Formats: sequence, structure tokens, C-alpha cells
Amino acid sequence: MLANLKPQAPDKILALIGEFKADTRQGKIDLGVGVYKDANGHTPIMRAVHEAEKRILASETTKSYSALAGEPDFQSAMAGLVLGAGHKPELTAALATVGGTGAIRQALELARMANPDLRVFVSDPTWPNHVSIMNFMGLPVQHYRYFDNDTRGVDFEGLKADISAAKKGDVVLLHGCCHNPTGANLTLEQWAEVADILEKTGAMPLIDLAYQGFGDGLEADAAGTRLIASRIPEMLIAASCSKNFGIYRERTGCLLAQCGDATTRDLTQGAMAFLNRQTYSFPPFHGAKIVATVLNTPELRADWEAELEAVRSGMLRLREQLARELSSLAGSDRFGFIAEHRGMFSRLGATPEQVKRIKEEFAIYMVGDSRLNIAGLNDTTVPILARAIIEAGV
Ligand code: LMR
Repeated sequence: MLANLKPQAPDKILALIGEFKADTRQGKIDLGVGVYKDANGHTPIMRAVHEAEKRILASETTKSYSALAGEPDFQSAMAGLVLGAGHKPELTAALATVGGTGAIRQALELARMANPDLRVFVSDPTWPNHVSIMNFMGLPVQHYRYFDNDTRGVDFEGLKADISAAKKGDVVLLHGCCHNPTGANLTLEQWAEVADILEKTGAMPLIDLAYQGFGDGLEADAAGTRLIASRIPEMLIAASCSKNFGIYRERTGCLLAQCGDATTRDLTQGAMAFLNRQTYSFPPFHGAKIVATVLNTPELRADWEAELEAVRSGMLRLREQLARELSSLAGSDRFGFIAEHRGMFSRLGATPEQVKRIKEEFAIYMVGDSRLNIAGLNDTTVPILARAIIEAGV
């Protein structure tokens, strides 16, 4: 039977990890997968995470099952982190998931349980795995315009026109901040216009919040999501703890569902727990416990916020340095968008041939659509990348 399986194309982002490892050239630079790295190319364990783990280890007395939808301390800490003071606990269902990807998958399963004819609107481009998951689930996908290749900013007129075609019963997937793969983001005024359209159409927003704290700060990065939550009664949020807590391999994520009334909230909470049970039963415990411990312990939370802020400002400095280097080499400010973008990624706008040339001639790896991970750079490698970009004719 298994011989009937069809070969699957490897995930392009993950395949790059193997290709980079196999490259024996000295001085190779990895700007591929979205993992934070410090100036030495190391992905550190954050101080508060390390301390929380020590405390958990010292106090833990059992490895018995926990709660099917996740522990209440994790659920409420995540709802608070994402939704802030506007959080309405009586209207919000929460589910611990296997990473942010698990939250996306459960969100789509939940929406399809509610509407078997579900269509999902996604930005063009979006994280490739969004579309891959939807295709695998057999969900119809509608792309809405998002990235303007000329300005390297958001094509907001195109976005508005395209999401206006969504209807009640559809889901519109939006990146809460730090758009992956482009780095181009909506302003708060634009979020308000998106809310107008969602109000008018009745389509349900699903916000992918995978990089809270990596763009303009923990609060600013959640501002668009919170604005939508204040205006649209029903919404889903898939939050990841992989990046902002640096706990990638612990697979920690959370699906939040804001519901129109308390009865629907209870119904939704039950459906979400059911989905976990059908998919993998209990969600991972350890990462969620780390997150709850950090967020609920004032001194750990303060230290985590400080370290996250240092990570964020370090990436911003690298963006500015790269934009400066490129502007002096190019003799123009056409790469100024790199300093305007936010988060880990920027889409350079290079052709696939130019990306290939940068890899082959300069041993610099970025995703084929010319997405580069800013956190893969340091002071020394920024000028090397800038020269490669110019020499490749970008
Ligand atoms: C990325 O986009 O590089 C990250 O979200 C990692 C992944 O799983 O693709």
C-alpha cells in the first residue's frame, strides 16, 4: 500500500537548511529559515526561559496528562499578551497547540467545522506553508494582492479591493505584524480600513501572530490585532511562542477565538478541545509551562521583555546598516525599504536567477523568492551581503 504514495516536494524553506549545512565554503551566510541568531550565528536560550525551566524542574512532581485544551495559566497569559487590556475572557476560547503552525491548522479545521464551504483569503505572497496546509486540507484558497514589487511596500488599494470579495462564512488570513515573507506591514490606519471591510462583508479574520515583539515592540505589534478584536465580534488568532520566546523546538502555540456571545464561546471551546483530541490528544506541556511561568512571574517577565527588546533593536540596527551600505553602493535610496520593513524578513525583490547567483558566487543563502532573514546577519556580514546584492544586479 505504501508504495502507492506519491513523492512530496520538500518544503523550500526547510530544504535550504540542508543545502546550507552541506556547503563546505568558509564564510557562508545563512539568511534562510526564520530562526533568530545572535551575532555569532547562535540561537540562544533566553535568560528568563532558562530560569523558568530551572524553576519548573525543581517544582514539578508528575508527568501525568495535563489539560486537553492546555493549562488555564498558559491560556490566560497568552490571551493577555495578545489581546491586552481589551481581552474579554468571558468571550474568548483558548487552545494550546503544537506551535503556531498547529494553531493555524486547528483554526482552519475549526472554521471548516463551522462552515464546510469555507474559503480562505490569503495575502499574495504569504508564508508558503499556509497555502500548502490549505491545499492539503482541500480548502479553496483566494489570493488577495498584498506586496507591491515596485515600492516593496503594501499594495493597499489592491488588498482592499480583493478582500472586499470575501463573504460571510469566509476566512481572511492576515499577518498581525512582521509579514512573512515580505516584511511590509499595515499601518494602524490601514488596519482600521480592513476592519471596515470585514464589518461590511461579515468575513471572519484569522490573524497569524507569529512574531509579536520582533517588529515595533510587544504592544505595537499587537495593535492591529487588538483593533480588529475591538471592532469584529468573531475572530481567530494563531499565536506562536517559537520566535518571541526562542523555544522553537518546544512547539508552543495558542489558538484564541473571540466569540460573539458566551454560549458560542463555550461551544467553540468544546470544539477546539475536540480538535486537539482528534489530532494529537494533549498538546505539549513543557513549552507552555515555560511561557506561563515567564509571563506570570514579574521579574522573569521583565527580563524576558528586556531581552526581547534587545533582539528587536539589534535586528533594526542591522536593517539600517544594510540599507545604508546598499544606498552608498547603489548611489540611490532604492533599498530604503529594508529599513522601513519590520520583523525578521525582507523581500528583496531579486529574481530567482539573482538569488541563485548570490548563493553560488557568494555562498549567501536566502529563500528563492528573495526573502532574507535579517537575524542571520551581523556587522561584518552586512557589507558582504550588500556587495553581493549589487554585484548580482539586483
Ligand atoms: C519561516 O518562515 O522560515 C519559519 O516560519 C519557519 C518555518 O517553519 O517555515
